[in-house]
Amino acid sequence: MLNEPGRKSVSTMVFWFVIVLFFMLLAGVIGNERSNAAQNSARGALTGSAANVADEAAVVEYTLRTRIGENPAMAYVGVGGDIDGVVNPALVVNVGDKVRITVINGDPTLHDLNIDAFNAHTGELVAAEQTATVEFVATQAGMYEYYCSVPGHREVGMKGTLDVVGEHTGQVVQVADTGYTAAAAGAPSSPAAPAAGPADAAAAIISRNPADVPPTVGDRGPQTIEVDLETVELNGVLADGTTYRYMTFGGQVPGPMVRVRVDDTVTLVLHNQEDSQLSHSIDLHAVTGPGGGAVYTAVMPGESASFTFKALAPGVYVYHCATPSVAHHITSGMYGLIVVEPEGGLPPVDREYYIMQGEMYTAQPFGTPGQLDFSYQAMLDEQPQYYVFNGAAGALTQDAFALHANVGETVRIYFGVGGPNAISSFHVIGEILDRVYDLASLTSPPMTNVQTTLVPPGGATMVEFKVEVPGRYILVDHALSRLERGLAGYLIVDGEANPEIFFSEEAPDGSGH
Ligand code: CU
Ligand code: CU
Repeated sequence: MLNEPGRKSVSTMVFWFVIVLFFMLLAGVIGNERSNAAQNSARGALTGSAANVADEAAVVEYTLRTRIGENPAMAYVGVGGDIDGVVNPALVVNVGDKVRITVINGDPTLHDLNIDAFNAHTGELVAAEQTATVEFVATQAGMYEYYCSVPGHREVGMKGTLDVVGEHTGQVVQVADTGYTAAAAGAPSSPAAPAAGPADAAAAIISRNPADVPPTVGDRGPQTIEVDLETVELNGVLADGTTYRYMTFGGQVPGPMVRVRVDDTVTLVLHNQEDSQLSHSIDLHAVTGPGGGAVYTAVMPGESASFTFKALAPGVYVYHCATPSVAHHITSGMYGLIVVEPEGGLPPVDREYYIMQGEMYTAQPFGTPGQLDFSYQAMLDEQPQYYVFNGAAGALTQDAFALHANVGETVRIYFGVGGPNAISSFHVIGEILDRVYDLASLTSPPMTNVQTTLVPPGGATMVEFKVEVPGRYILVDHALSRLERGLAGYLIVDGEANPEIFFSEEAPDGSGH
């Protein structure tokens, strides 16, 4: 209008100016109660006339409440006004409006709200009913996304649009770029890694001792049993001087080995620790039923849930958290094995060990000291920095967690891959696997005399071998680049030399490749 004075009469201008003022006032007084009609009128009035009202910019307020567990799985729901009850409502404002968005945390788990273009970030909301407000001026017309940045939340539905209506004011507007958006849009993505925070001096040793294996069920009949698992989020030692925020079953990686008998009736009780930031669940591959139980065990912090299943088939099965982002929860440590033994129990051996492989997607490169961040983009790209047995780099090469056996003993290893993505080519350097229960099938005859065996993510194997020669044997994934990213374990065999099987006059120089 100002640009084209010849086309509008002065009275028209005054009329629109009054209308604009009216709606500015309306918006200011009733905040998020503003109506669509009001927005539409204001939109029309403001077009091209931002200069008129620059000093009297409207304050537009919206309130959103986070919601979990409906459809979509996670969302923001409008509170008050036109958007009341609307899932992921479109928020409509005019160029130049001062926008105030309040987020109420609808559940006691971690969420936030971000509109990158306007550098609007609520920061973390953790407790139920906690609120945070962002305020910014909608300086540039366009459609922008608001979303939750907790890994997986945006992907399962925590997002909506902010529609800034009106014409470009001609000003150059600084638009923030998080790197996430650019990468998702296909732009070249190699943003510099964020600096690691200081390592958590109180970080726990999260690696489970591979000797932590419950006793065989033996020769008993089917029973009804209860298995209690607790989900625990904690800072743990990923490598020497390096810590990471783990999610676990029971505070260790992998979670406790569960051992039952075929035809047992198992009540699985999952409790989510009070101070968790996220909800969790459990999917056991030994379960026949929806989601492997996950759909019945989505538990908020401080809550418990349970379901009962019959263990129909013997095998060594992976269990894992199935809460979005599932891959994020798994890479952070939420996996374990449940062994369903056949009738009569598994044949006794001298030593049993429990090992699981995973890979870790940190934002900082392998070997960076400090508290490392999880990188959602690296996970999507399947570009891990760390590969781990039992949760931490080199954990099973340390004295406390190395495997031990004596010459002449038979060793059984329950080996699973939590992943979430990488297949393992499991190998024991210097040994031949006498028996491989391929893919952890305990009802098929084992393969014999295997050098390296494949284990898929979400899969397992059971291997057995007799140790004949003393020395140090190294457990690896024979995709050996991963050895240099933390993936190794030791089996120390003690006993008399066995020159008939192995002999050298040289002094040993390590034991590896
Ligand atoms: Cu969220
Ligand atoms: Cu989880």
